[in-house]
Amino acid sequence: MAVLKITEFPERVLKQAGEPVEEFGAELERLVSEMFETMYAEEGVGLAAAQVGLPLRLFVMDCEGLRLVAANPEIVSAEGAQEGEEGCLSVGKVHAPLRRAERVRLRAQDVRGEVFEQEAEGLAARCFLHETDHCDGVLFIDRLTPLRREMVKRRFQKLRKWR
Ligand code: NI
Repeated sequence: MAVLKITEFPERVLKQAGEPVEEFGAELERLVSEMFETMYAEEGVGLAAAQVGLPLRLFVMDCEGLRLVAANPEIVSAEGAQEGEEGCLSVGKVHAPLRRAERVRLRAQDVRGEVFEQEAEGLAARCFLHETDHCDGVLFIDRLTPLRREMVKRRFQKLRKWR
């Protein structure tokens, strides 16, 4: 297993809608293991395939005790509202406040292709929305006001120069 390289804004794959996952088997299991390893190494709570350079509808997460693999994720319902800070490994973990739904129901396939539904609240619900967005080529900064988006981009560019 290996820790994979994180793709960063503005790499193109992050703006692409992912292709559906159609093959479930040893190769997908290996990819998922590497995605988990990469996510833990980077201290993230979720990681989508686009973030390791693969335009696929797939993410892994481990957030508030909820650890799962979601292939071909769909948001079935989203209710309520929460305020909170959000960040992304592909944007250098620069955070910004973003309003999201409070309760979210996700439908997806697991690593063996079995369809499941899972509900979450709070941070885990935020994670469902953030990672499913990645599968559609949407970054959290795309959901910010133009002013906030520019602030995040500028802070991220500065961080990149320093490393
Ligand atoms: Ni992200």
